[in-house]
Amino acid sequence: MPPHGVKPRVTVGGPLYDDRVTIDEARQRHAELSVQLTEHRRRYYLDDAPTVSDGEFDALMRELLAIEAGHPELVSQDSPSQQVGGYPAATFAEVVHRRPLLSLDNAFSREEFLRWAERASGLAGLDIGASGLLCEVKIDGLALDLVYEDGRLVTAATRGDGAVGEDVTANVRTIASIPHQLRGEVPTLVEVRGEVFMPADAFALLNDGLVAAGKSPFANPRNSAAGSLRQKDPRVTASRKLAFLCHGLGEVSGGDPIRRQSEGYDLMSQWGLPVSAHSQVVDSVEGAWSYIQRFADARHSLEHDIDGVVVKVDDRALQERLGRTSRAPRWAIAYKYPPEEVTTVLLDIRVNVGRTGRVTPYAVMEPVLVAGSTVEMATLHNASEVVRKGVMIGDTVILRKAGDVIPEVLGPVVEMRDGSQRHFVMPTHCPNCGTRLRPEKEADADIRCPNQRSCPAQLRERLFHLASRAALDIETLGWQAADALLSAGLLVDEGDLFDLDADKLSSSSFFTTRSGSLSANGRKLLDNLELAKTRPFAKFLVALSIRHIGKGIAPEVAAAFGSIDALQAATYDDLSAVPGIGPTLAASIVEWFEVDWHRAIVAKWRAAGASMADEAHGERGAIPQTLTGVSVVVTGSLPGFTREGAAAAITDRGGKVASSVSARTDFVVVGEAPGSKYARAVQLQRPILDADGFDALLHQGPEAARAVARRE
Ligand code: IVH
Repeated sequence: MPPHGVKPRVTVGGPLYDDRVTIDEARQRHAELSVQLTEHRRRYYLDDAPTVSDGEFDALMRELLAIEAGHPELVSQDSPSQQVGGYPAATFAEVVHRRPLLSLDNAFSREEFLRWAERASGLAGLDIGASGLLCEVKIDGLALDLVYEDGRLVTAATRGDGAVGEDVTANVRTIASIPHQLRGEVPTLVEVRGEVFMPADAFALLNDGLVAAGKSPFANPRNSAAGSLRQKDPRVTASRKLAFLCHGLGEVSGGDPIRRQSEGYDLMSQWGLPVSAHSQVVDSVEGAWSYIQRFADARHSLEHDIDGVVVKVDDRALQERLGRTSRAPRWAIAYKYPPEEVTTVLLDIRVNVGRTGRVTPYAVMEPVLVAGSTVEMATLHNASEVVRKGVMIGDTVILRKAGDVIPEVLGPVVEMRDGSQRHFVMPTHCPNCGTRLRPEKEADADIRCPNQRSCPAQLRERLFHLASRAALDIETLGWQAADALLSAGLLVDEGDLFDLDADKLSSSSFFTTRSGSLSANGRKLLDNLELAKTRPFAKFLVALSIRHIGKGIAPEVAAAFGSIDALQAATYDDLSAVPGIGPTLAASIVEWFEVDWHRAIVAKWRAAGASMADEAHGERGAIPQTLTGVSVVVTGSLPGFTREGAAAAITDRGGKVASSVSARTDFVVVGEAPGSKYARAVQLQRPILDADGFDALLHQGPEAARAVARRE
């Protein structure tokens, strides 16, 4: 084993350190970083209550390492760069590890990973890839050292500072997956290393319970695992559903030699110890890189959180040859994925009133870069969610943005509170129109502004929706124009929209030139409105903001009834009899027409010249037979259609729905998650339609559909 000498670590990554800074500046920054890193480490390992995210800690550490690479004289034995990990706590008895528990060096990019592999190959004098690399997921938990003597668990200790850990044997005995007695032929002494973690479902359950008991929830599974393991009362640990997976061996005596670490895992598994199902040996550095990429995509679908992948030289003799630095082995590297959790300050909690009047609190935060984009707002869903998360205005909060997922405030860093934080109080009255807010139904978590007709926030959202391409496609009626119409008092509700004229628009500076005449924008809005009146009935159905009518189902409803008058006259039973219209939608349509001002909108629009009827439509229910003789196969799910609904839409128009693709199939409609029919369609080169193509087929006929069909 190499000596424990203090050596500057080679830094990896970009130019974090600028050579032009003087030694004094470097020394000063090094000292600042050392203090910060030591404090963060103490909070993480000793208090189980970190105040910065792992990503932020890593960034500080990288800056320190960059300075040390430029100024090796600053590397001292007590520099944070030379420390392995945590601290033994005073509460638990100390355990001196038989062999030190090391940390891992990190790589944050492909270049850094390849540099590690190249360096290790150079030191070993062979291609470490070809010698076999053991790839494992890096579980985001805490390290544990288990000592088994003659197969019996005698000690369980945390990592502590790597040399001395805390004795948590009593607590560890309550973890179901850790055997008290190993099975089969076991060495006289074996030190098993691994990670304690809290599975995602147990974490969610624990936090729900904590909130119900009026306590602060844990911000993430790692903190909850650490907090649960380091309890004074083992019964508390027992209630926490911790799990364990092995990731290494320490001292082993009195058994057959273990040549490869992967062999070690097989043995551990035979002895009854839990090992990860995701570990894999590859025979090249590129193979390890593929593994890293694979788990970047899969990282959220595992039973536990992972913050990266660990790649290890599998051959144990080669591990010995490569040795270690003071804190980490040279034969392994942790590839860390970009941080998805950061901390930021919650500046305020405000509320937003949506199109249906739902009042949603949202977080306004100090802008922060997370998973590749800057985030400054995140929804908090409803008042009980704010309570559940336990956040206060002014808190430092943990923000998570996993991949492409919408940013989410996970919870507060309670330790950072200084007394200036205040609780959020849900408003009792609408911030936009002053109406008293109330839940729609009793025990509803959401509260709403009941002034649906003219609450400016709701009306603006409805106008914006009505102008969208899925509805009346009024290009000039964007967010700002909608706001301008409302502040000029030109609309009581959307019923007044088609009554707008040059005179009315001239009262808003948004639609006038400096000289007071109608601007080009204003003229365009009036033109757009004229055109909008002629849109098909289905588009008007979307425009009316009837709950549950979206662009998927609107053509179905329009085709079945043909006009707004016929729809208004329809009873619940008439509506439910239409394929594709379920009970919720039927009830929603009936309820919508029961409201006076809703019917008034229809009347005003009609009076202004919007027919809201499809000419081609004859008798009510008599749908034009545009698909006579056309054979269609549908595979996968289509937005707005059930399987039966899609089939009915075809047969209602005289088309034939076939169950398998043949040379005689006219169209294959392919939705989400299609089945083998899709492959068959490609094989037989049949015209393929996506959801939009299907829309064209139903509403514009086979010719139009042929024009947009693909052959793959
Ligand atoms: S090997 C000498 N393998 O990550 C090598 N560690 O950041 C020691 N960890 O201290 C560790 N999953 O607590 C190894 N598959 C894995 C791991 C893993 C999680 C933890 C471990 C280690 C820390 C380093």
